[in-house]
Amino acid sequence: MSSISNYSNNNEKCMLIIDPEAYSEQFPFKKVSNSWHNKFLYFGLEGAKAWYSVSEDPVYSDPQREDKIIDVFNNLLKDLHSKIFISLGPGNAKLDLELIKILKRRNKTIKYIPVDISDALLFWAIVTISSEVNVPFGILTDIEERLYFIKNKIFEISLRPKIFTLIGNTLGNLQINEKTFLDELSSVMEIDDFFLLNVSTITKQWKLFLDPRMKYENYTNSIKFFLTRGISIHTGESTKWLIKNFTKVVGFRHNKRINNNISEVIEIYDKRNDRLITRISRYLFENLVNWINERKDFQIIFSHQLIENNVIGDGFLLIKKLK
Ligand SMILES: C[S@@+](CC[C@H](N)C(=O)[O-])C[C@H]1O[C@@H](n2cnc3c(N)ncnc32)[C@H](O)[C@@H]1O
Repeated sequence: MSSISNYSNNNEKCMLIIDPEAYSEQFPFKKVSNSWHNKFLYFGLEGAKAWYSVSEDPVYSDPQREDKIIDVFNNLLKDLHSKIFISLGPGNAKLDLELIKILKRRNKTIKYIPVDISDALLFWAIVTISSEVNVPFGILTDIEERLYFIKNKIFEISLRPKIFTLIGNTLGNLQINEKTFLDELSSVMEIDDFFLLNVSTITKQWKLFLDPRMKYENYTNSIKFFLTRGISIHTGESTKWLIKNFTKVVGFRHNKRINNNISEVIEIYDKRNDRLITRISRYLFENLVNWINERKDFQIIFSHQLIENNVIGDGFLLIKKLK
């Protein structure tokens, strides 16, 4: 069973579909699950506000870099005809707004369905995109464990082809591995559906000590606040105190055990008890492309890499579901 609440914008009704299985984790009276780290960062109004400030932080979203990303999206999607856009983790929905404007050129009646674990971010995405296109509903659930819940809901609107998006290196932060996620996503997609993936990439010059996430000076206050909430939710310590003691409390390390040949993994953790706060995987783009190409269910129809500096960049893949 799922609960539904209504939201109305421009006289058009939009439903919020809440998956109780995923949402119950967010209730404050429930014991905070130890196996969850990254997902907690976005929880509640505080989590949404914290992510919003990170995404508005020029270090995270440099306007020049964003313009280049929008150019790639334009190239990639200009001829694509899609009837539904399903955004997996819209965040502040800024890039989704650009994507919907591009997709709308080929199909004015395209519908948008955001899916997120954060109620406030989900609501924000609905409000933002409702000004451009019809948003029949948003789904509050977990894209790592509950993709089949999404499948049941979107099948009720039998429009094809669909485009699923996972952008902003969300793949690189997931708690489950890439293969499990792609297998699940594939089972939700129908033949001729599309999947737009954007990940953080590394060049051959990448070395652990060169990665921006290995240096304290690259952590701005908004990023510190976002990360320390992940500690505070477990320990009850104030984020103010944790930010003040950031270098004593937060550490970075290379995860050598996840050696899948497609990525390098940095873990951000609480030094005092070793508890993981989040993981950032950055992908060796060529290896990622080859790895996806080995699959029989997907065909890459567009791939592009933007190199930001000598060390890291952004990778884009437009993938079609074959069977
Ligand atoms: C790294 S942000 C990316 C946001 C946006 N796509 C961008 O490019 O800026 C990750 C987004 O995915 C959501 N998210 C993270 N883990 C999730 C999960 N397991 N299930 C559903 N949403 C999740 C977060 O709430 C957030 O909106």
